[in-house]
Amino acid sequence: MKPRVFVTRQIPEAGMQIIQAAADADVWPDELPPPYDVLADRTAPCDGLLCLLTDRIDAGLLDRAPNLRVVSQLAVGYDNVDVAACTARGIKVGNTPGVLTETTADLAFALLMATARRIVESDRIVRAGKWLTWSPLFMAGADVHHATLGIVGMGRIGYEVARRASGFQMTILYADARPNEAAERDFGAHRVSLDDLLQASDFVTIHTPLLPETTHLIGERELKLMKPSAMLINTARGPIVDQKALYEALVTGAIAAAGLDVFEVEPVPGNEPLLALDNVVVLPHIGSASVATRTRMAVIAAENLVAGLRGEPLPCPVN
Ligand code: GLV
Repeated sequence: MKPRVFVTRQIPEAGMQIIQAAADADVWPDELPPPYDVLADRTAPCDGLLCLLTDRIDAGLLDRAPNLRVVSQLAVGYDNVDVAACTARGIKVGNTPGVLTETTADLAFALLMATARRIVESDRIVRAGKWLTWSPLFMAGADVHHATLGIVGMGRIGYEVARRASGFQMTILYADARPNEAAERDFGAHRVSLDDLLQASDFVTIHTPLLPETTHLIGERELKLMKPSAMLINTARGPIVDQKALYEALVTGAIAAAGLDVFEVEPVPGNEPLLALDNVVVLPHIGSASVATRTRMAVIAAENLVAGLRGEPLPCPVN
């Protein structure tokens, strides 16, 4: 008999084929995630689980699934998965790093440029018939070229953002617990403290995982350290930034603008005050969302799942 797996959303066909060749797959058919209780019920009889970042995988759910051998997360970040609880139960956890690095760096840079040059606001003005004439300071934003970029977290994605920034002749600062010699050598990046980075940067872009120690890493104190002309870009995880403090910083002019692909609560509620601000560019968590990359992620997630079912080492293990 084939092992049983629950796949919490429809995923690209290339991934599904790998799964279906090796397992009996129960695939959640809806566009919205399964509610927690349904997720737990459907996982309970399974040997494997392929989940997304919208699914909470906690000890309670694992306790109801005595046969579960592998949790394969279709994302690089896995803060929704209680990895320690999986490890304690002998359950392997996998994720999809690497293949999404450049796609996510592209999006971070696109968001940085859109925020700096007021692209979305300009689009809205044209469509609303409010483009009256060419004038010297109409829709004038900030230069990206030759500006100073502060990268918080110089891992794989931070490094690729630095590569893009070096093409714009930016000065690159970074804050990270560990030095990244490749970024220093390849792009002239300088490692500084987070406070120094915040004080010196024209743009601050976040590329750390969400961990207890990075939750609200950027709060009121940190935002006040930034230049009034500076812009904050977050394509990592929403809770790394204190969203209320960010709103205050934007309305009081402590910083100039923000570009956000991620939020403390996702989807961001329609009454979130940040959404009313013209100096905020918002995206629906699409950092890795190119067809090619999402397909590669599905393949890796499927390969992790199947390896876990077979008791083999996962191609991309987390624990
Ligand atoms: C997306 O946010 C991911 O972690 O892959």
